Amino acid sequence: MSTSSPNLLVTGGAGFIGSNLTLALQEKFPEARLTVIDDFRSGDFKNLRGYRGDFVAQNLATLDWREQFGNEKFDAIFHLASITDTTLHDQFVQVHDNVESFRRLLNFARPSTTRIVYASSASTYGPASAASVESNGAAPANIYAFSKTIMDNVAMREAQENPSWTIIGLRYFNVYGPREAHKGVPASMVYHLAQQMKAGQRPRIFKHGDQKRDFVYVKDVVEGSILALEANQSGIYNLGSGQARSFNELVDVLNKCLGTRFQPDYIENPHAHYQNFTEAGLDKVRSALGYQPAFSLERGVADYVQWLYGD
Ligand SMILES: NC(=O)c1ccc[n+]([C@@H]2O[C@H](COP(=O)([O-])OP(=O)(O)OC[C@H]3O[C@@H](n4cnc5c(N)ncnc54)[C@H](O)[C@@H]3O)[C@@H](O)[C@H]2O)c1
Repeated sequence: MSTSSPNLLVTGGAGFIGSNLTLALQEKFPEARLTVIDDFRSGDFKNLRGYRGDFVAQNLATLDWREQFGNEKFDAIFHLASITDTTLHDQFVQVHDNVESFRRLLNFARPSTTRIVYASSASTYGPASAASVESNGAAPANIYAFSKTIMDNVAMREAQENPSWTIIGLRYFNVYGPREAHKGVPASMVYHLAQQMKAGQRPRIFKHGDQKRDFVYVKDVVEGSILALEANQSGIYNLGSGQARSFNELVDVLNKCLGTRFQPDYIENPHAHYQNFTEAGLDKVRSALGYQPAFSLERGVADYVQWLYGD
């Protein structure tokens, strides 16, 4: 970033990752002019405690950007707003709200070629049995993932047609960390299992706990997203920990951090199309953005448990 007082906008800034990103940007660029847009459909103002910037409460799927912002020039727009409840099966609403929100934003940003960093998702890969790399084709298994796939398609078409415009898509994997409690059921399994165990209950996981996830700590995701401010060409990149870890291992790590010795309570998996494996291939994002995750599952969960229950 060529200025120490950039004009930055974050959509979805009342949400989990968006609020962590907004507060990190405020800390990294104390002189920045910050604006958040969020319609609170799954966010919460409490996530933004200590935030000193502007807040626009608008639905991005219908927002008239020119009317709202005139010719204001942003240095970058981070677009994280999205329907994030993957169990919402209304195909029209998922695709309309997620894709049209993005299209409106792109239409506003195109004349000034404002840098765009947007949240895509590991779910675009669909079922996998090995590390997913960006050159894999998309295979969305639900309507949420389909909406993210269309956003990737639109973004790369725009980037191709406008070579001087930098558009970066980030495929977040299974993110966990502070400021996710407001999500309820869609919050991470790290959060839900920690809450069960903290309440003295055995952690409930699907039989037999050997399914694996790339659990990535939100601080790494925020760091990787901020690195995208420096990227000099458009692209889509994975953001994960780079390691698939099983739910059994997660329970072990939580037991260590919480000082408990719970055995998992294995339950039937009711989902026919369940992802048994996710892992981010990181070669491309390492070389393009210089991203290097700092938090192993052990370190991330320890940091998170301290944030949740520490004194
Ligand atoms: N959490 C994860 O593990 C994960 C994984 C992959 C991708 N992502 C993506 O990262 C982004 C952030 O996810 P999150 O986990 O912080 O979820 P979240 O639900 O906490 O945050 C999303 C925010 O967007 C807002 N929003 C949704 N639609 C909007 C609209 N039309 N107009 C205005 N505001 C709107 C919500 O109110 C909410 O505050 C999303 O794009 C999500 O798809 C998250």
